[in-house]
Amino acid sequence: MARTLVSVIGGRPADGTPAGTVSSPNPSRLADVVAEVTLADAATFAAACAAAKRAQPSWADVPAPVRGRAAGAIGAIVAANKESLARLVTRELGKPLPEALGEVQEIIDTCDFFLGEGRRLYGQTVPSEMPDKQLFTFRVPVGAVAVLTAGNFPVAVPSWYLIPALVAGNTVVWKPAEYAAASAMALFEMIQAAGLPDGVLNIVFAEGQEAFAGLELGLQAGTIDKIGFTGSTAVGSLIGELAGRHLQAPCLELGGKNPMVVTPSADIDLAVEGALFSGFGTAGQRCTSLGTLIVHESVHDDFLARLTAAVSSAAIGDPAKDVLYGPMLAQKFADRFEEYLGWIQPHHKVLGSSGTGRISSAQPRAGFVGDPEDGIFCHPTIVDGLRPGDALFREETFGPIVGVTTYARLDQAIELANAPGYGLSSCIYTSDPREVFRFRRGISAGMVSINNSTSGAEAHLPFGGNGKSGNGSRQSGMWVLDQFTRWQAMNWDYSGHLQKAQMDVAELTADPDYKLAT
Ligand code: UN1
Repeated sequence: MARTLVSVIGGRPADGTPAGTVSSPNPSRLADVVAEVTLADAATFAAACAAAKRAQPSWADVPAPVRGRAAGAIGAIVAANKESLARLVTRELGKPLPEALGEVQEIIDTCDFFLGEGRRLYGQTVPSEMPDKQLFTFRVPVGAVAVLTAGNFPVAVPSWYLIPALVAGNTVVWKPAEYAAASAMALFEMIQAAGLPDGVLNIVFAEGQEAFAGLELGLQAGTIDKIGFTGSTAVGSLIGELAGRHLQAPCLELGGKNPMVVTPSADIDLAVEGALFSGFGTAGQRCTSLGTLIVHESVHDDFLARLTAAVSSAAIGDPAKDVLYGPMLAQKFADRFEEYLGWIQPHHKVLGSSGTGRISSAQPRAGFVGDPEDGIFCHPTIVDGLRPGDALFREETFGPIVGVTTYARLDQAIELANAPGYGLSSCIYTSDPREVFRFRRGISAGMVSINNSTSGAEAHLPFGGNGKSGNGSRQSGMWVLDQFTRWQAMNWDYSGHLQKAQMDVAELTADPDYKLAT
């Protein structure tokens, strides 16, 4: 049965002018509509920002350890509902259940971390250059935060923003992806169940352009102090430009063209397993999905033969069953995937399945689990013979496709890995420690895995990218606190007279000509 969802602002269903409705179908069974979503317009989005801004001072007055306990309560509520939330994610986004359970676990892990952070949020005591004076630093919340998230990780990635932002004393307006609305609403309700006051967290369902216009209204009105955005590089740069005009630095988590380097000393079976998981898991729709395999020419044929065998025999289909991957997240991703397939050129060799594009009765896939016509399923595709000038080499291709190219020397592999200009995740398979550290030093990515795939980041290491993957902001662990707090420096002079920094400073007399007697 479909739920009807409306935005919640200041604890109440939004009464603003709806900008139409949209349905969120189950992508593995399109006849199953998961939610009917009432969309907000820009003014409603801006009203939510105003509500968040009003609620912020009293939320910041709640002691940080108490806010941390709210994170603990959210984690416990999510843990108690882990299975049902994961099943909803599988139904609405088509992730196989074990992955959906992993995604929900990532929320719990994030809450575990920030439960404790409520008791830290450390500042420093710093010595002064003058007597009877003390220096301090404090972390202060930035204020009201607008968070816009994608639907490929419909609940885990939002929690990376929401939980630390709330623990640090900010209030939030969250705009999830429309095609992930039911999963988002479920997380919103669980967070509310932890007892947050009205207006501290608000959820707004809106189409991208209305939300963007709403961001502009909020920034003009001074009711948005920070933007967090996970999504495409193109939209990220528009948001960066808008925020920059208001002297703000957004937290941007954008696309990737994540490379995997396979060296001559690699454990080939391990590399194949990693390529299968990170190239085709979630149907290649993670920000951390493998983009291009950069394989040493001496192991290329062996590696490619083993990868092709693994991909060709992988189970694809109904995400409630034991499959490598299920459907595309939503129709628009299948449409874009067809565009990427249009970039295949005569010098490429296509491998991995009995067809390309949509899996259907006309283009069947051997061993498909279920009926492909029920949903939006795509063939896995390996494209060998990529050249640096190819669109398939240069651009992110969100979907079940990986490219393959070769290299002769490690510095060439690193150059190829950096060439597309993204810099989110990367990995190398090698048993040579010198190669490990040369790769780590040379790669532009924010995340580097050794003998592990490009996917599978843990919830307490910095997550984020450089170049076209983001503006250098990092989420997760203690590093995300720099997004949601600002440093305030305080000095306290209790000497009773004006002591001027740099001028009224005692000096010891040094003898710069001193030489040790020999
Ligand atoms: C994302 O793709 O946006 O590392 C997040 C991973 C997950 C998170 C991915 N833990 O694949």
